[in-house]
Amino acid sequence: MSDPADETTDDTPRAIDVPNDPTLMEKIVNLSKRRGFVFPSAEIYGGFRSTYDYGPIGVLLLRNVKDAWWRSMVQLRDDVVGLDASILSPPAVWEASGHLTNFTDPLVDCKVCHERFREDQLNDPRVCPSCGAEDSFTEARQFNLMFKTQAGPVESEGAVAYLRPETAQGMFINFSNVLQASRKKPPFGIAQIGKSFRNEITPGNFVFRTREFEQMELEFFVPPDEAAQWYEYWCQQRYQWYLDLGIPEAKLRMRPHDADELSHYSSDTSDVEFLFPWGWGELEGVANRGDYDLTQHAAHSGDKLDYFDQATNTRYTPHVIEPAAGATRTMMAFLLSAYDEEEVRGDVRTVLRLHPRLAPYKVAVLPLSKKDTLTPVAREVLALLQPSFMCDYDETQAIGRRYRRQDELGTPFCVTVDFDSLDDRAVTVRERDTMTQERVPIDDLVAYLASRLV
Ligand code: GAP
Repeated sequence: MSDPADETTDDTPRAIDVPNDPTLMEKIVNLSKRRGFVFPSAEIYGGFRSTYDYGPIGVLLLRNVKDAWWRSMVQLRDDVVGLDASILSPPAVWEASGHLTNFTDPLVDCKVCHERFREDQLNDPRVCPSCGAEDSFTEARQFNLMFKTQAGPVESEGAVAYLRPETAQGMFINFSNVLQASRKKPPFGIAQIGKSFRNEITPGNFVFRTREFEQMELEFFVPPDEAAQWYEYWCQQRYQWYLDLGIPEAKLRMRPHDADELSHYSSDTSDVEFLFPWGWGELEGVANRGDYDLTQHAAHSGDKLDYFDQATNTRYTPHVIEPAAGATRTMMAFLLSAYDEEEVRGDVRTVLRLHPRLAPYKVAVLPLSKKDTLTPVAREVLALLQPSFMCDYDETQAIGRRYRRQDELGTPFCVTVDFDSLDDRAVTVRERDTMTQERVPIDDLVAYLASRLV
């Protein structure tokens, strides 16, 4: 492989057709491990099936996904407030929500190989996908997906607790608290980001379906006669959010549920779907949940969960529009759609064309050589940039290799400090997507980068 250090020739990069690459998923999994996005969990003990740890780069990317959601759903609005409710909760919550009875999947066992499957996900209900045995399945039984645990040292019925399978219920049961503390009135929303847990029968496809994952959910409380209009509004807003952050239109669709797919409480649901390498998959569901949740919790708790509108002198139970997204699954969609390869002077350049807001590092500071003379200026540039941008600093290996590493991390800008910098107090800024380079005075660097990192 030739050293790709010299990018100043005018050889035009040639695109490689990544979207149709059947090995794309494998490449993403490899890149994730190699560059520190996502590691298989407990690997040194042989791994723990379908759980993952987010590495030094993944933790930044995932945080940026969640920050972008929070910015759009909370920061830029005056009708949504935040919440961080507990993960552990008593059975009463899940009895009222319906999860204790309804949050189940039909489970079948193969009597030959003893593998377990979700009956509704079998391609052929007679043939075991694992060992090929025919008519070997047990009768289906309903398997509750909630993780059950015990709170406190005494094992008793009263000590049972559940890990939440969705963040939503924390927002419903805090409806009155939030209403009172925030002095909001419908239409208004409560937003929450956090971990949820589901004992999935068939986790898989990397971080697409895991037993521990993160959700980003909004419960938007509206007067009943405005529900249909707010449902349309949130469908449109949420679809646009993914487009704005760089998911191409051809890989995104809004799919309204058929009547037989709707939950018993929902009059309308649409999924935002992404074209994964194995086909369309859900990133987010937008549901019109009516007054189901507040009514259920009011009935079970005995508390009033409604709103008194002084202007009209009426009391009503607000209806809820819920856009519910998965943070970890969405991070994977961003990775898949950003992944690109192109041929540059006979070499393959792998580049993550992530939206700057999502990029783990915004800037990498790269002294051209490790010589002591360059280090003080390079460190000075780093210290100048760090308060404004998440930066990487890398002084080992040839500069070309360091550029390639930053391309694979999706870093929008590399700032190279060279020997001329000592005299002209300027640096070379190299842009990730075009690889174009520009000389910028150190004094102008923060403003220059800020204007290009929107
Ligand atoms: N409160 C509604 C609710 O939780 P959901 O469709 O079950 O709705 C919302 O979940 C989103 O959470 C999904 O669209 C998906 O992105 C994410 N999600 C659900 N189960 C998941 C799992 N096992 N692994 C990763 N993400 C998951």
